[in-house]
Amino acid sequence: MKAVPFYSHGNVSVLKYVENFPTPVPNPSEILVRIKYCGINHLDIWTRMGIPGISINLPHICGSDIVGTLENDYSTFSRGSRVLVYPGISCNQCNFCNNGNETLCKQFSIIGGLSNYNGGYGEYVIVPKTNIIPIPHDLSDEQAAILSISYLTAWNIIKKLQLKKDDTVLVYGASGGLGMAMLQIAKAFGIKIIGTVSDDSKLNFAYSLGSDYVINRNKKEIVPEVEEITHGLGVDAVVDTAGQKTMTTSINSVRKGGKIAMCGTTTGNDANLQIRSFYSKQIQIYGILIGSKLELLELVEFINKKKIVSRIDSVFSLIEVQEAHKRLEKGEQSGKILIKI
Ligand SMILES: NC(=O)c1ccc[n+]([C@@H]2O[C@H](COP(=O)([O-])OP(=O)(O)OC[C@H]3O[C@@H](n4cnc5c(N)ncnc54)[C@H](OP(=O)(O)O)[C@@H]3O)[C@@H](O)[C@H]2O)c1
Ligand SMILES: [Zn+2]
Repeated sequence: MKAVPFYSHGNVSVLKYVENFPTPVPNPSEILVRIKYCGINHLDIWTRMGIPGISINLPHICGSDIVGTLENDYSTFSRGSRVLVYPGISCNQCNFCNNGNETLCKQFSIIGGLSNYNGGYGEYVIVPKTNIIPIPHDLSDEQAAILSISYLTAWNIIKKLQLKKDDTVLVYGASGGLGMAMLQIAKAFGIKIIGTVSDDSKLNFAYSLGSDYVINRNKKEIVPEVEEITHGLGVDAVVDTAGQKTMTTSINSVRKGGKIAMCGTTTGNDANLQIRSFYSKQIQIYGILIGSKLELLELVEFINKKKIVSRIDSVFSLIEVQEAHKRLEKGEQSGKILIKI
C-alpha cells in the first residue's frame, strides 16, 4: 500500500513516501480500515522525533486522527461504513479499562503515536474492532478527522476541570489544534476565553472562533493583560499546552484556587515550578491525556448536535506529508492540517 513510514527518528526528511509498504493483516480482534483522512497533530512531531527512553518498533507510521471506511462487516457495521477510530490502546481488562478510564491503564498508548500501532499516514490501518466509532450522516469525513485527539482532549479538560458558564480560561496557541478545539467547545458552554497567538495575522481567526480576548504574545506581556481583563482576579483556569516557557505565566495568571490543565510540552519539558506561588494560591494542576472512548462518543454527539464546524487550514496528500509537518513545525497554520489519502 502507499504509506509514509519513518525508518529512524529525526527531522522531516525521515518521513518516506513509499508505494509498496505491506498492507497490514488484521487478527480476529482487529479490523482493516481504508483511510480517507488523517488529521495531523503536534503529537506526530514528537513521534517522528522520538522521545528519549521510549522505544518503538520501526518502521512506524504516524497519524492518530483517523477516518475511513471498514473493509469488512463487523457487528452492526457493514463493509464500507464510515468510521472514526478511537486512538487509545489499552488492556481492556483492568479496572480502569472496565470503568471507562482506559487512559489510566498501565498499557495505555496511542495508535500512530509512540506505540507499536501504526497510524493513518497510509492507505490502510488495522485497529482493534472495539476502537471503531460510527460517523453521523451529517458530519463530513474532514470534520470527523479533527476530533480524536485535540477536540477529545479539550472535551476532557472541560469535564475534568468542571469548567462552567462564565468561567474565564486562558488558552495558549489559540490558532493551533488543541487551542482551536478549546475555543470552540468552551464557547458552546458559555465559557469566556482569553486566547494567545504569536502574530497579528492570527488575531481575527481566534476572535472568529469564539475567543473573547486575544493577546499577541509577541507584542504584549500575557500576565498584565490577563490581570487587566480579569480586574486583578486572574483566570479561573489555564490550558497549558506550551509547557516549559509558559508554566510561570500560567501560575501567575490563574486566580487563587484556580486550575491548570497541564497537557503539552510544545516549548519544552522541563519547567521551573514556583512552589510558593503554587501553594499560596492553592492552585490545582490536572494532568490530561486525550480522553476515553466513551468521551469521544459523547463528543461526536455534541459536535453534531451543536453544529460546530472546525477550520481546516490545509489539506495535503501522502506525497506531501513532509510539507505538512514543516507547516505545523513552523506554527504557520490557522486551524487543522489534514492528510487526504
Ligand atoms: N495531553 C494530551 O492529550 C494532548 C492532546 C493534544 C495535544 N497535546 C499537546 O498540546 C500541544 C499542542 O498540540 P497541537 O496539536 O494543538 O499543536 P499545534 O497545532 O502545533 O499548536 C501549538 C501552538 O502552540 C503555540 N505556541 C508555540 N510556542 C508558544 C509559546 N512560547 N507560548 C505560547 N504558545 C506557544 C503556537 O501558537 P502561536 O505561535 O500562535 O502562539 C501553536 O499554535 C502539543 O505539545 C501537544 O503534544 C496534548
Ligand atoms: Zn487496562
